[in-house]
This record gives sequence, C-alpha cells and structure tokens, in this order.
Amino acid sequence: MNKELQTVFHYHETTKHAQQRYARSLGYMDWASQPDPFRNYNGCETIELPIALENATPPYHLLNTDLPPAPLLKESLSQLLQFSMGIAAHKESGGSSWAVRCNASSGNLHPTESYLVLPPIMEEQNTKTSILHYTPQNHGLEKLSEFDTSFWDNLPKGSFLLGLSGITWREVWKYGERAFRYTNLDAGHAWQSIVVSAKMLGWKVTRLDSTSDTDIGTLFGLNQKTRFFEHEHADMLFVVSPSHVESSLRIDSLLENVPLSFNGIANKLSSQMQSWDIIPAIENATSVMQIAQQNTTQNHMLKDATQESKTVVLNRRSIHIMHTDTSTITQEEFHTILSSVNTSLDAKENAVHLALMVHRVEGYKKGLYILVRNDRDLINVQEHMHNDFLWNKTELNNLYFLEEKDVTMASKSISCSQDIASDGAFSLGMLCNFSEQLNAHGAHRYKELYWECGMIGQELYLEATSLGLSGTGIGCFLDDMMHGMLGIKDTRFQVLYHFTIGRGNVDSRIMTKPAYNRK
Ligand SMILES: Cc1cc2nc3c(=O)[nH]c(=O)nc-3n(C[C@H](O)[C@H](O)[C@H](O)COP(=O)(O)O)c2cc1C
Repeated sequence: MNKELQTVFHYHETTKHAQQRYARSLGYMDWASQPDPFRNYNGCETIELPIALENATPPYHLLNTDLPPAPLLKESLSQLLQFSMGIAAHKESGGSSWAVRCNASSGNLHPTESYLVLPPIMEEQNTKTSILHYTPQNHGLEKLSEFDTSFWDNLPKGSFLLGLSGITWREVWKYGERAFRYTNLDAGHAWQSIVVSAKMLGWKVTRLDSTSDTDIGTLFGLNQKTRFFEHEHADMLFVVSPSHVESSLRIDSLLENVPLSFNGIANKLSSQMQSWDIIPAIENATSVMQIAQQNTTQNHMLKDATQESKTVVLNRRSIHIMHTDTSTITQEEFHTILSSVNTSLDAKENAVHLALMVHRVEGYKKGLYILVRNDRDLINVQEHMHNDFLWNKTELNNLYFLEEKDVTMASKSISCSQDIASDGAFSLGMLCNFSEQLNAHGAHRYKELYWECGMIGQELYLEATSLGLSGTGIGCFLDDMMHGMLGIKDTRFQVLYHFTIGRGNVDSRIMTKPAYNRK
C-alpha cells in the first residue's frame, strides 16, 4: 500500500467517533476565531447579478426529463448560482441573525467556494474570457482575471466552466480532526445543488474527472499563495453545457492562456487558527488523482406533479426536532424518496449503499433494510454483513429487508444520541464500498466517496421537501457502532454519512427574512 493510502486509512480510523472517544476537537467553540463564512477578494472588479426570484422554473417532478436548454446569459447564470450556492433566506432569533443557503453545510459555515470560467457574455463588446468568484452574500461575481483563448471552440455554444474549492478551516474550527470529512460531504451537497439548479435551465453538468487538483488550483488562482491567509484547496471542475460533453475533456489549451497572477487578495477569515497536523496530511494525501472511472447510464423515475423547483430548493431546511406522532410516511413516499437516489447521481459507478433503520413507514416492518445501489456489490455486501440477515426482496427494486426489530434506540445512539435519528420515519447510514475503491483508484477516491454521499444527502433533502417532509444530514455518528449492528468487521465497507427523514418543526421563535434586499 502506498504512503497516501496509508494516510487515508489512518485518518479514517483516527477520526471515528466512539462512545468512549469522540474524534479530537477543541471541545468548545472559540467564538473569537470563528471563521467568516463569506469569502471576498479585495481589490477586484465586482459584478452584481440580477435576483432570479421572479423567474419561472419547471415543476420539480420534471427535472429529470429533457428540458429545452436556456441560452447562456447573465440572467440564466444568475439563476443557476442563486438556486444552488446562493442564500435562501436570513434567519433571526434572540438578537442574532444568520444566512441559510440552498446547499446544506455542516455547522452552516460553508467551506465550499465556487468559481466560473466564462466565455465573453457578461458585457457587450467584451471579447475576453473571464475567471470569476461567486459571492453569495450579495449575489455577485468578482472578476479575478481576463484573457483571450480559443478553448471555447472545443465546446458546444453556451458552455462554460464551474469549479468548486474548499476551505477546511471553516469546518476545523468546529469539528477539529473530523473536519476533512465534513468539508467533503459539504462539497458533495454543493455539487448536487448545482446539478439540480442546472436542470431547471435544461443544462447538463459534467465533472471533468481527469483534471488534476493542481490544474483546478491553477485555473482559479488558488496556487498564488501570497493572495491567501487561510489555505483553500481545489476540488471539482465541471463543464456546464446545453448538451453532452465528455468527462475526459482536457483543459490544457485553456491553462496555457491563464495569466500567472490574478486580481484581488482573499479576505482573512479568522484572527487566528488552530492547527491539527492530521488535516494538511490528509489534504495532501488525497490531492493527487489516479484513474478516471467508468460512466454509467441514468434511469430516473417520472414522479407525480409537484411544486415549482425553485420553491423546493429555496425551502429546503434542516430540521432539529422530529415528531414521532406525525412522522409516519406512506409506502409511496418512502419509494419516491429512495428511488430518487437509487440510480447514479453523477453518472459514475455507485459506490454508496443505504443501510436503513426503518421506524415508521406504512407497509414496512420496523427494522433494518439495505438499498444496494450497485448490483456489482451485492454478493460482497452480503458476505460482509451478519450471516443471519434475511435478504428478502421488497417491492422496491434493490431494497432488501434484513431484520425485523425496533431500531429507534440504536438509531439514536449511533447518531451521537440525537433524537432526530429515532423520532422520524427512518434514518440511514451511507455504506460505502471502501477499501476496494481506495485500492483500485487511489487516495483521491476518499474525497470522491464523501462527495457521492453529500450528493445523495442533498437529493434526499430536496425529495423530502418536495413531499412536505423534513430531513437532516447527520455527520455526528458512531462509526463502529453502526458497523457492529450490520456485522461489518473490516474496512471493505464503511459508513461515511447518516441522514434522517420524517416530519419536523422549524422552531417558531426563528423569524425568516428575505435573502436579498433588492430586485
Ligand atoms: C455533512 C452534514 C452533516 C450534518 N450533521 C448534522 C448533525 O449531526 N446534526 C444536526 O442536527 N444537523 C446536522 N447537519 C445539518 C446542518 O446543521 C445544517 O445543514 C446547517 O445548520 C444549515 O442549515 P440548513 O440545512 O437549514 O441550510 C449536517 C449537515 C451536513 C451538510
């Protein structure tokens, strides 16, 4: 095993939560050093984007059909960003206020930043390609660089690039050593938010999976260290396009034209930082990519008529109190939610399966179930779990009944004693094909596994919202307690994220204010 993979296995083991020992963190909130959730580049030209709230968007159930692509204009681009990475509302309670966004983020400090590479569309008479940073706080863009390139000749008209990066410090501040996990789960949430928002415009999002982190960093100026106080790392690069683009598309001809130095100095996010040696170690080990994976086809179910997609996206919220008496859901709702994540979300092989703890679903016995999202893993998952599990097929394709039992208390204990895990309709652990994927694809795959889990999480939030239900991502869980319940004894399969769905209340003391005070 190479050094990078050893670092990954070590990091994963070290940052497990257990009843006797939670992963290391400061253990309290050092409010004086709380990082700013908004990044700005001081000293560069800014562009205000029009607010897209009045734009008509397709019904949510039509998002997986082929919708006619919108033209690439400032207005459509603005809609894409507002309904994915933008602010959804401001909340106010007890004298404090905070912004909530369309994409979920553990701790709400949003480690994920977004960047664009745009062909000349923003201003008339401008023939230059620009690199821009999205600023959700004022729904605007900051122009970091401008240059000429013939790169766009290789792409369908109306295409552009969108990239995501991460500032792990925003998660480290709260979660200490486990923060790398949260940062990458949040990145997955952001990715799926962008996919969904692009679908509203009939656009396709393709991750360029052979572009290295180094090249993405160069493209967005993240390698220009003197412009940053806190480290910001490259994550993903997408082509957003009206039609299909190969994920192997190369960006060399673009990189040749990118200037060496950009405008703007990144704002300092905190007065001081804690340092945890394990964080730069895992960031470095997972920054080098090995092999691109195979594409698979997508096959989504057409659902019943629903509300406008922007309403679903803007109303997605995490719920912190579930109600046992109203959380029972119908079999149809259960199937709709699970079907939305049964197929591949990022057009790649699925490595993540859902181990379900069912509490209150009509037509389903209480107990343990598993949704195997990739047939290829079925035999292996069976071999690695308790050998007295039933493996009875259910009415939903790929969903197996494993064991009848009341798993409410287990669900709560596994989720760091959080009631939301036991008081809803069901909760679940995302069980990943772990050591095999890492050994086959290298250490970078560790990040990608979290991204897949985050995408599933964002989709579950949206499905629940569209059905009038509630959901919450659960990053705090006792890893090996969950493995113990499933009978998993080694690292062939590991849970990387949990989620709960039911009916909950938003705290009525919290007031909601508009996201942006302009049209
Ligand atoms: C990766 C991840 C892990 C999370 N873990 C928990 C958790 O363990 N418990 C909890 O109550 N909320 C959890 N949340 C919900 C966040 O607290 C919530 O997303 C954040 O406060 C922003 O609120 P919003 O989702 O309503 O926008 C998690 C969210 C994400 C994305």
